[in-house]
Amino acid sequence: MRHLLETKTLSRSDAIEILDVAEDMADTQSREIKKLPTLRGRTVVNLFFEDSTRTRISFEAAAKRLSADVINFAAKGSSVSKGESLQDTAQTLQAMGADAVVIRHGASGAPRTLASSGWISAGVINAGDGTHEHPTQALLDAFTMRRRRHGAASRGKDLDGLRVTIVGDVLHSRVARSNVWLLNTLGADVTLVAPPTLVPQNVTGWPVRVLYDLDEAIAADPDALMMLRIQLERMGAAYFPSEREYARRWGLDPERLRRLSADTMVMHPGPMNRGLEISSEAADSARSTVLEQVANGVSVRMAVLYLLLAGEQSEQATTGSDEG
Ligand code: CP
Repeated sequence: MRHLLETKTLSRSDAIEILDVAEDMADTQSREIKKLPTLRGRTVVNLFFEDSTRTRISFEAAAKRLSADVINFAAKGSSVSKGESLQDTAQTLQAMGADAVVIRHGASGAPRTLASSGWISAGVINAGDGTHEHPTQALLDAFTMRRRRHGAASRGKDLDGLRVTIVGDVLHSRVARSNVWLLNTLGADVTLVAPPTLVPQNVTGWPVRVLYDLDEAIAADPDALMMLRIQLERMGAAYFPSEREYARRWGLDPERLRRLSADTMVMHPGPMNRGLEISSEAADSARSTVLEQVANGVSVRMAVLYLLLAGEQSEQATTGSDEG
């Protein structure tokens, strides 16, 4: 694997390989092996043009647990605010010896531009681009679902027949898009639930069922209910019901929570708008996988970095081109 830009084109075998390697990484963490020497001498750059808590910190933790050096770059406070281009920023980081660039950008397609530009030779990992994709979020969500479903026997398994309902601001959600493609590849049945104005126009080409009524979706007894963040900052011209109306019709409130089966997973990628798309009772309930998703994010991102960089390292070793 040279880059990880999206789940739409990720094959089933590559996806399962990432999830299986993430299981190995989780094993080392559970045995309190805090650090593996695998990526010693390699440099991972976190290049974040948009805010992040979970993704940036977990990529940093993942790289450090593999003994890589980490450079954190936030656009705020950098020369980007003086107008420096993506090309010049990327080439500056390349000159500092980046082996992998983890990029979050407000423009859909920015990671692909970077990967195909020839500006850098580093592997590129998409950490969220506009409304396009957030592939490592979908991988950590799939990892969480697979573990809940298959437990210790997860390796090699997919999500065949798992019923996953994704609720909320699908229009602006890169998490929803990455999940739809990956879950479909892994054999899950996906239902989207949203106000009509927050459903993308091209959804007819997606491998999903679309509902507008959350209560109907809950009555169908999903295995996982993934609540999306309402992205008020991206709402623009899209019609959004009042927050009160949204919470009443599409929010996971305590009453809806009670109607879910005891083993239905309540998922949320974070950050959460408590009281809007999800109540605190749901977010903090026994069904909630929110913190499990965060913890699994480190194992999944370790797996992605390992597959991008360690494979390349051994290829270099066999061709004798690794000076390090
Ligand atoms: N889920 C997610 O991408 O969270 P952050 O924006 O905090 O990285």
